[in-house]
Amino acid sequence: MTNKEINKLPLESNYSKDKKTHVLHEGNAKELLNNKDLHKKVRLIVTSPPYNIGKEYEEVKKLEDYLEDQIGIIKELINVMSDDGSLCWQVGNYVDKKTGHLVPLDIPFYNIFRENGLMLRNRIIWHFKHGYPNQKKLTNQYETILWFTKDENHYFDLDEIRVPQLYPGYRFPKGHKKEGLASGNPKGKNPGNVWDVPQVKAKHLEKTDHPAQFPISIIRRLITALTEEGDYVLDPYVGSGTTIAAAALENRIGIGAEIDKEYCEIVKNRIKDLNEGKMDYREDKEVPKPKGKVSETPLEWEQEGVLND
Ligand SMILES: C[S@@+](CC[C@H](N)C(=O)[O-])C[C@H]1O[C@@H](n2cnc3c(N)ncnc32)[C@H](O)[C@@H]1O
Repeated sequence: MTNKEINKLPLESNYSKDKKTHVLHEGNAKELLNNKDLHKKVRLIVTSPPYNIGKEYEEVKKLEDYLEDQIGIIKELINVMSDDGSLCWQVGNYVDKKTGHLVPLDIPFYNIFRENGLMLRNRIIWHFKHGYPNQKKLTNQYETILWFTKDENHYFDLDEIRVPQLYPGYRFPKGHKKEGLASGNPKGKNPGNVWDVPQVKAKHLEKTDHPAQFPISIIRRLITALTEEGDYVLDPYVGSGTTIAAAALENRIGIGAEIDKEYCEIVKNRIKDLNEGKMDYREDKEVPKPKGKVSETPLEWEQEGVLND
């Protein structure tokens, strides 16, 4: 994935076939998906839906009712997805506030997508090092991305997302028919299905006032592998506009819907900043080891002998 010259396209509220603008529908995703012109046109649908956990943008419903609502949108999404396209659904856990009972949302969603004819290609683990500390259970440090296609004739360009080989100097061993030749692919190795990317929290370069952003680098990786330049990339729950921004950085056409007016303003400002070369974002590269004071053991822990308990 390289940084390329970006076609600076404006953000408009209506979809047009000429591919000269990104689109932000300021309202319910259902209205956007009703547009018959989008039928089978979208190469990649990528989103993080509301998780029904009481974030400021969602009203908590019974889990069954929440999933029922999602099914309506999912059927529409499958209609707009191209035959060789992909759908990537990023989710974490639903936790019952009273009992703490936890439902990994990818489990019910997997069943919904299967019942609607899609096939799972990968269950990608998005791993991060931080999470809410907990006394009664282990801290959660991952979410998942379910990557579905309609069939096995999907578009996928692995070369676009290869990462450097861990042991590039490794050679085929004695007795092997390729003995002595370098065994790896010079373009790099398959990045695998566990992606280590920090969450967008606190002082992260990309942080806006939206409470649940996903990182641009994750979406760029999906976009570069699953679409080509000029393709449509759609996010029905676009939040702060991460998907549109990632699509723009890769010269794809971003289409999103967002129901909350304040978040729509964030999207508009983000794309304006991007077009003016002022949008900050983190490149898709290895997570650096922590440096400085925060990575040192507090002196008082050593003095009080806490570390020997
Ligand atoms: C988990 S957030 C998405 C955040 C996004 N991935 C980002 O990086 O900023 C879900 C978003 O969906 C929006 N939303 C909820 N229901 C919606 C609907 N029916 N149509 C459009 N947007 C909706 C919420 O306002 C919220 O901003």
